[in-house]
Amino acid sequence: MELKIEDILKKGKEINSLAVTALDKVNDMKKWEELKIKFTGKRGDLSLLLKSLNSLEKDKKAKYGKVLNVIKSEIEKLFLLKKLEIEKNELNARLKKEIIDIHLPARPNENGTIHPVSRTLDEITNILGCLGFKVEEGPHIEDDYNNFTALNISENHPARQDHDTFYIKAKHGQAGQKLLRTHTSPVQIRVMKRDKPPLKIIAPGSTYRCDYDATHTPMFHQIEGLVVDKNVTMAHLKGVIRELLTRFFGIEDISMRFRPSYFPFTEPSAEVDIRCKKSENELIIGEGEDWLEVLGCGIVNPKVLKNCNIDNAKYSGFAFGLGVERFAMLKYGIADLRMFYDSDLRWLKNYGFAPTGFPNILRGTW
Ligand code: DAH
Repeated sequence: MELKIEDILKKGKEINSLAVTALDKVNDMKKWEELKIKFTGKRGDLSLLLKSLNSLEKDKKAKYGKVLNVIKSEIEKLFLLKKLEIEKNELNARLKKEIIDIHLPARPNENGTIHPVSRTLDEITNILGCLGFKVEEGPHIEDDYNNFTALNISENHPARQDHDTFYIKAKHGQAGQKLLRTHTSPVQIRVMKRDKPPLKIIAPGSTYRCDYDATHTPMFHQIEGLVVDKNVTMAHLKGVIRELLTRFFGIEDISMRFRPSYFPFTEPSAEVDIRCKKSENELIIGEGEDWLEVLGCGIVNPKVLKNCNIDNAKYSGFAFGLGVERFAMLKYGIADLRMFYDSDLRWLKNYGFAPTGFPNILRGTW
């Protein structure tokens, strides 16, 4: 039976529409390949149809072949489009599955802490600030005169030997021996020489002595207090100290005693003790039968007022001086003074304070 062009065309179109329907359902490359072989492979439907032209005469074969090749390239185009579609879908699916988080984790936010000495300085300054004391500062490199002589500690005074002083080599032609202040008391002298009474000041700051053991470090902190006015008495001193200790330790009606003592710059002088209970590993403040020394104080020696050109017949004053590290150790249960300055981060994390909330008079951050 002779092949007719219509039949061949019909058959070709049939194959084409079969391929379209079959491809429509395909969505992976494996199925696509199977179909590609089935429709366009060497032994595929279309090739068989082409082969069937072999029995025709040359010019008919060429004519029909042309028609079939058009159909074949249409089908191949369909396959190519489908392939692109499958590849695109597969890529999108993979991208969806393999989302890579390109963000770097944020840097850990390491907050520093307030050192217990800074905190204690702030607390005491705050309490005394509320009682009307003004903060004064003085230089850390002092004259021998302000640090000792004006405070009634003369050249041969035994108290000079108690202060293991760091002396600074005098420059050529320099008058007066320079030293690192051994206490904050010279600030009293500077203020009294500069201002007229009434005076009500505190001088917080670092001080230096050549000493190092569990209770001494070469640099430490003190707060000096000074009031000069008419008719200042020991009673005023006692009132201020009671207020300070009560508020600082947070103990109502704290039990304290004024024990007679000696300082060249005060007369009479006293050391203040607070009641405490010492057991093997514990120190409880405010109760018990033991006493703990917390500060030195007294009535300003009239000689000191005179050294600062203040009329000691008209004015009197009281003064006190306390060790900030000691206050910090007592309140926050710190046993070894040396740890304050070892810069051990574990220690600082443990004993430091969160940098929030506490009003700071010294640094003006009310
Ligand atoms: N300046 C003394 C010291 O460093 C402390 C002191 C004691 C200061 C008694 C005073 C005071 O103002 O009255 O040991």
